[in-house]
Amino acid sequence: MRIRGKEKVPALLQQADAWIHQENNGLIAIDKNLYPTVCLEVGCGKGVFLSELALRHRDVFYVGIDKFVEIIARAATLSAKKEVKNVLFSMIDVERIESLIAPSSIQTIYLNFSDPWPRRKNEKRRLTYPRFLDIYSKLLAPGGWIEMKTDNADLFIWSLQAFTKAGWTVAESERALSQSAPEGLEDEARYIKTEYETRFRGLGVPICFLRATPPSKS
Ligand SMILES: C[S@@+](CC[C@H](N)C(=O)[O-])C[C@H]1O[C@@H](n2cnc3c(N)ncnc32)[C@H](O)[C@@H]1O
Repeated sequence: MRIRGKEKVPALLQQADAWIHQENNGLIAIDKNLYPTVCLEVGCGKGVFLSELALRHRDVFYVGIDKFVEIIARAATLSAKKEVKNVLFSMIDVERIESLIAPSSIQTIYLNFSDPWPRRKNEKRRLTYPRFLDIYSKLLAPGGWIEMKTDNADLFIWSLQAFTKAGWTVAESERALSQSAPEGLEDEARYIKTEYETRFRGLGVPICFLRATPPSKS
């Protein structure tokens, strides 16, 4: 993801400080009475999807992570502008997410338009690689699930296989997610467009969607 105006980052970080969680502050503390449900977007980009979702579900708390500080600065600034209170962003690689989020605490993990890493030698970096599925499995609360959207059919097929091989259940899978939500489902996460989704839909690319649940913990 290209970020223009990197020189603005320190000022953005300062302005949106209340929307940013620093890794060295330890686990994110969320008031369970206020927010019984917590959801996570891995690779949240500039926060377009998450800030909109948080506005529509004010009783759910959302955490967005991305590995680049410039991107987190933009995401936090967007939520600050929209005055969304139930969302927090953190600059962290998903490999270290366990220093931020307690086990079995997340209802839904969103993987939106993750980098496809098409070359075989880079497949370990795909966010649906088995070691990441293990991490997600630990984070998910009982009854929790992953929702994934992508424009990349190859990544989609590969991910379906990765989930199945790792013992996950693919509960839903669509090769062309509807552009508009069926009546009454407008607030469902899958119909909230991400920044990349808007771009790909504009080019007429079909969007693949899946929902998968982890193997039961024994
Ligand atoms: C193609 S962008 C998609 C952004 C957004 N989800 C959307 O749909 O518009 C993928 C994002 O994932 C982030 N990312 C990639 N690998 C990551 C990792 N291991 N941990 C955290 N974020 C990661 C990238 O920095 C980038 O911002």
